[in-house]
Amino acid sequence: MENITLNNGITCPVIGIGTFMLSPAEAENSVREALKMGYSLVDTANAYVNERACGRGIKDSGLARESVFISTKLWPSEYENPNAVDETLERLGVEYVDLLYIHQPAGNWLSGYRQLEKAYKEGKAKSIGISNFEGKYLDELQTEWEIVPQFIQVEAHPYFTQKELRVTLDKYGIKLMSWYPLGHGDKSLINEPVFAELGRKYGKTSAQIILRWHTQMGFAVIPGSKKVNHIKDNLNILDFKLTEEEMAEIAKLDKGERYYHRTDAQLAGFASWKPTFERT
Ligand SMILES: NC(=O)c1ccc[n+]([C@@H]2O[C@H](COP(=O)([O-])OP(=O)(O)OC[C@H]3O[C@@H](n4cnc5c(N)ncnc54)[C@H](OP(=O)(O)O)[C@@H]3O)[C@@H](O)[C@H]2O)c1
Repeated sequence: MENITLNNGITCPVIGIGTFMLSPAEAENSVREALKMGYSLVDTANAYVNERACGRGIKDSGLARESVFISTKLWPSEYENPNAVDETLERLGVEYVDLLYIHQPAGNWLSGYRQLEKAYKEGKAKSIGISNFEGKYLDELQTEWEIVPQFIQVEAHPYFTQKELRVTLDKYGIKLMSWYPLGHGDKSLINEPVFAELGRKYGKTSAQIILRWHTQMGFAVIPGSKKVNHIKDNLNILDFKLTEEEMAEIAKLDKGERYYHRTDAQLAGFASWKPTFERT
């Protein structure tokens, strides 16, 4: 596995398993199978309502706790709950997480960020991050943070490479973790001819070429999947390297086009929505 070194010196695997929109049963299965085949990074969130299931998948994989890099996210309606971090750890069945994000710049997000800083100081989170904090939200956070985050998790893929954001990230040594790395199931990205062409050259699928592109951009990447054959393919991307010319060819696809457009009304809705957490 290749690793990324974070601005606090700890390392994070470049490839992980994402669990957005996976039911508890699907998440448990994908996480267990992924870890058994060599993954060591798992990404979940309060809002995915599958943290308990991910915890079971991690336990059933047979891997030691310290061999797994667990990433999760506090949801806005938890930002003012003083027990939010402990309750998250309890659901996952662990004493600490390797990475704890605040999921959205909604509600009292500064209170959420203070919870991350407290968890970091107490050793309950080995690194901290912000998710979807682009533009004015990151500008504002910079005037408030006591601890610089290690990660930002944002939409990123060859159609939208976060060029502008990366200038600020480089300044602080904040690493980018890509969501929707394969376009969230949209076929137009995966069907771009350049990926098929490179796939023929390297004996890889188009999805594998895209994921290799992410890691060569310096991103950590967490493709979501319920299919064991896809999960296996997504890990099997580190035995070849795209050339500079090939990276430049892929760069031509960047049209600054996001898949997901968030509105202020949605942000307000995020603050009031409460996940119905799994009981068992
Ligand atoms: N912070 C945030 O706000 C945020 C938002 C969205 C996502 N995320 C995180 O980022 C992760 C990734 O995003 P995502 O899961 O939404 O989108 P994604 O990884 O871009 O795409 C997932 C889709 O790609 C398919 N797929 C996976 N591997 C494939 C392969 N090798 N070949 C062909 N198709 C493949 C999956 O189908 P199959 O199940 O059939 O394989 C699924 O339909 C999430 O799971 C979550 O952990 C975070």
